[in-house]
Amino acid sequence: MANTNGQSLFRLGIIMSLAGIISLGVMFFWFPPSKNCPPPVFRPNQKSQINSAKSNNSVTEKAEEKPIVLLWVWPENYRFDFSDCKKFYNIDNCHLTDDRALYNDADDVIIFHKAISWDLSNLPPSPRPPFQRWLWLHVESPTNTKKIPGLENLFNLTLSYRHDADIPVRLRLMNNKKPNEDFVIPKKDKLVCWIVSNNSPSTGVDTRNVFYREFSKYIQVTLFGRAYARFLDYNDYYPTMASCKFYLAFENSIHKDYITEKINGPLAAGTVPVVLGPPRRNYENFVPAESFIHVNDFPDAKSLAEYLHHLDKNEDAYRKYFNWRKHLTPSPHLIQQTQEFILPICTACDYVARYKHYKEAHDLYEWYFN
Ligand SMILES: *[C@@H]1O[C@H](CO)[C@@H](O)[C@H](O)[C@H]1NC(C)=O
Ligand SMILES: *[C@@H]1O[C@H](CO)[C@@H](O)[C@H](O)[C@H]1NC(C)=O
Repeated sequence: MANTNGQSLFRLGIIMSLAGIISLGVMFFWFPPSKNCPPPVFRPNQKSQINSAKSNNSVTEKAEEKPIVLLWVWPENYRFDFSDCKKFYNIDNCHLTDDRALYNDADDVIIFHKAISWDLSNLPPSPRPPFQRWLWLHVESPTNTKKIPGLENLFNLTLSYRHDADIPVRLRLMNNKKPNEDFVIPKKDKLVCWIVSNNSPSTGVDTRNVFYREFSKYIQVTLFGRAYARFLDYNDYYPTMASCKFYLAFENSIHKDYITEKINGPLAAGTVPVVLGPPRRNYENFVPAESFIHVNDFPDAKSLAEYLHHLDKNEDAYRKYFNWRKHLTPSPHLIQQTQEFILPICTACDYVARYKHYKEAHDLYEWYFN
């Protein structure tokens, strides 16, 4: 008896809790706790209904405010789920779509430079809705950029690694308000590492290869990557990088602001980047001076190698390269190749949702190449 009673009490308990959870859920749905709560995803074909319905429902109004951002083509055909913007960067303030049927309603259209055909025949059609802005998406350096004619005065906003782009794309180090004393330098079992996936001479890699050949005469470098047939699994990227004292963050070509995820990897992993790229001052626009070693700090490759040997034997001097960790926090970047365009596209989404002004991007190439 006591047992049965216990069971029915137990059952009653379950029912009560379920009812509680359900009614909480219902209340949550009807009375969202804050304006930051993401409204339900609305599907494209609902837009006209949303526009015509003079509903006072706050959820609907919020959805209506979100600009429609049309991704005209998938860059390099690397598809991803648009909800990744929310997942990785907490960006959810535009309605991203690849549905060209929404072209006439799209507030902004992202156009990937490398996919534009030489005769411009695959650009969106005319007439262009008067409110619509076109975004020029390009992540390569000028060395690796084709000057497709006819684009000079076609776009409204530039989306690029360049600091002076309308929409600059970059993962930044974030300031800690409270000093972080917890950082521990990861255990090291390699001195210098380098992951190289691209070694194609046409991309401008000559400078770094010449430097590397000389440098590697004086110091042991552990190589990884496609270019050296030692492919590193994505899951091994950060752990491997963390196990090296130094990492060669050598850009493929040297241009202002062309400072890529190659430096972010070691900074995020807890490794000292040795950089080759634009001048030190340019790096210092983005990362603290004492967080990296610049090849131009030394007269030649040999003296750089000697300095790294010196740091290898001098723990205190090496440790100083991590002092910045107290006040700044790096974010690991997405490392799979197919994820390359998630950050630019999400950054664009966030920007266009915040800034809705008129803008023309004139003389695109003059800006980009000079
Ligand atoms: C909706 O809001 C408008 C103005 O804020 C008001 O005039 C109208 O009565 C409201 N409609 C309903 C159905 O609440
Ligand atoms: C976008 O740029 C084009 C070309 O410069 C210009 O004709 C158009 O008026 C601009 N539109 C908006 C909404 O900024």
